[in-house]
Amino acid sequence: MRILLTGKNGQLGRCFQDAVAGKNHELFAYGSAELDISNALQVALIVGQDQPDIIVNAAAYTAVDKAETDSENAYSVNATGPELLARQAAELDIPFIHVSTDYVFDGAAVKPYLPTDVTNPQGVYGASKLAGELAVSATCDKAIVLRTSWVFSEYGNNFVKTMVRLAKERDELGVVADQYGCPTYAGDLAQAVFQICNQYEQGKKIPAGIYHYCGDTPTSWHGFARAIFSVAKVNGLIKKIPMLKAISTDAYPTPAKRPVYSIMKDETLSSFGIFPSDWFAGLNSILRDYNA
Ligand SMILES: NC(=O)c1ccc[n+]([C@@H]2O[C@H](COP(=O)([O-])OP(=O)(O)OC[C@H]3O[C@@H](n4cnc5c(N)ncnc54)[C@H](OP(=O)(O)O)[C@@H]3O)[C@@H](O)[C@H]2O)c1
Repeated sequence: MRILLTGKNGQLGRCFQDAVAGKNHELFAYGSAELDISNALQVALIVGQDQPDIIVNAAAYTAVDKAETDSENAYSVNATGPELLARQAAELDIPFIHVSTDYVFDGAAVKPYLPTDVTNPQGVYGASKLAGELAVSATCDKAIVLRTSWVFSEYGNNFVKTMVRLAKERDELGVVADQYGCPTYAGDLAQAVFQICNQYEQGKKIPAGIYHYCGDTPTSWHGFARAIFSVAKVNGLIKKIPMLKAISTDAYPTPAKRPVYSIMKDETLSSFGIFPSDWFAGLNSILRDYNA
């Protein structure tokens, strides 16, 4: 199978390359320097050259706070780019796997969000990702949109790495305890995307539409930090666990408003043998190999 991957240098992009490595597939992987997904000519040229059987879009503008003052770029990468890729996929009549976010929701729910629940993004990042979802679904009838949340991995910058660094530097740390979501290990997300590719190849096609793929156990940022510290301590990455204070969102103002509750659920993928991310196992695995 010929797989075209965008965003190869990001967390998901790198984990997806690891997932495909050594398997019987041809991978055409691009970073933004080789393929700017918001450039219509480049997109058409590269897709035309590679003639993929499936396109995986792991590229995105993910700077949630910066997006508030850089909305043109956020929309260009998160909405225009995916639409251009979806158009190429539609012309070739191939599936297009696109990744979106829990930040399309407003956080007012009291039970886990389902893919069919009403969206209402609170910031530019979430709004630009929602625009991408809508454009992709309207353009390509083989588009699969996976919404994910709180992504971490051994690659790039993420909450896990920030917490490990801060634990080395500080004796006391305040972490937001009133925002709830599901951490997701990018390695598991990459495997989920890869399984969708494989199922297509085997003719077991997952229907087009929106799906939720995230961690199996909800927590708060504070709970996530506590888990990170305990696993980091067990693996000898930190000498002692800093005093962890629970703070409120109000005490940690950010340019972009985040949903206070973005726990997502979706049992549909399980029926295709794709199960939620065991994020605690992912955390253990990346912190075990952290220094290597
Ligand atoms: N990170 C999270 O917590 C989180 C939460 C919910 C949903 N998501 C979604 O999950 C997906 C994967 O996120 P991630 O954490 O892997 O993101 P990431 O690590 O920030 O990587 C994003 C990649 O997108 C690429 N990119 C940016 N602008 C581009 C452009 N114009 N053309 C082509 N590539 C471009 C960058 O490529 P270069 O490095 O080559 O410049 C970067 O490596 C995204 O759709 C994101 O919205 C992430």
